[in-house]
Amino acid sequence: MPSSVIDRQNAEFWNELCGTAAARALGITELSPENLRRFDEWYMTYYPYLEKYFRPAEIQGKRVLEIGLGYGTLGQVLALRGCRYHGLDIAANPVAMMRYRLSLLGLEGGPRVHVGSALDIPYKASTFDCVYSIGCLHHTGDLGRGISEVHRVLVKGGKAIVMLYNRHSFRHMIFLPALHLRNLLLGRYKSQDGDTGFAKWVRAWYDKNQKGEAAPHTDYVSRAQARELFRGYTRVRIESQNFNDVVYKGKVLVPREPLLNNLGRVMGADLYITATK
Ligand SMILES: C[S@@+](CC[C@H](N)C(=O)[O-])C[C@H]1O[C@@H](n2cnc3c(N)ncnc32)[C@H](O)[C@@H]1O
Repeated sequence: MPSSVIDRQNAEFWNELCGTAAARALGITELSPENLRRFDEWYMTYYPYLEKYFRPAEIQGKRVLEIGLGYGTLGQVLALRGCRYHGLDIAANPVAMMRYRLSLLGLEGGPRVHVGSALDIPYKASTFDCVYSIGCLHHTGDLGRGISEVHRVLVKGGKAIVMLYNRHSFRHMIFLPALHLRNLLLGRYKSQDGDTGFAKWVRAWYDKNQKGEAAPHTDYVSRAQARELFRGYTRVRIESQNFNDVVYKGKVLVPREPLLNNLGRVMGADLYITATK
């Protein structure tokens, strides 16, 4: 599918802020400062390893672009850590959320948060010291182009911090195929939309909206593919992070926290790529 079509589909799909299901589970119905604080606290506790990629010393005083804003937690972390923050998202609502957050914090920078595509970043070459893109580029339909756009807008020596879904995760390689097979064999297949196509079912398992619809496009990459995609950068570090609770019949058998530092580091759901131009 042409990337312009995927851009249009993404602009519509992601207008429902990603994180909406979690916010509802927290009982959040309105976007008061207190509710945003509660959401952010949940988010940063649920993904404890994120702190490592957002160290104040690496952010302060830098020109930073964030691509893919979602509920705005990470954008707020960046803005509060003293960088010159810029935000970009294909959908209008994440942009509105980020501007709202900046205004609540009394920070300037709203006009530096824009609607636009990662595939055609609306900045000149060599504009940023850091580009953050967590969980976004794999939705664009053209990872190679997104990653070379990030490279283009970075200064020499600048850093990209990118999270992409791990093709060789426990979730992707073992858990979801086993669950799918079990559902098929037992004849009690249940997908969000009654479609038993595995790829679409997996896509919805990763990212779905409140209607149960899957994100328009998702890529999953191995470490080797990530290395190849980032070949234009001088230094590349790839780390596996994130793991799910082990659940049986709706009960949590093993909570995810103790798994984050072992299984999560080997077959985690996400790859964090830190690449220097
Ligand atoms: C899964 S959310 C991640 C949000 C946030 N970074 C986080 O980790 O919570 C993906 C975000 O990427 C945005 N996005 C998808 N395709 C995009 C594109 N081509 N250009 C810019 N943003 C895009 C979506 O609108 C959405 O806000």
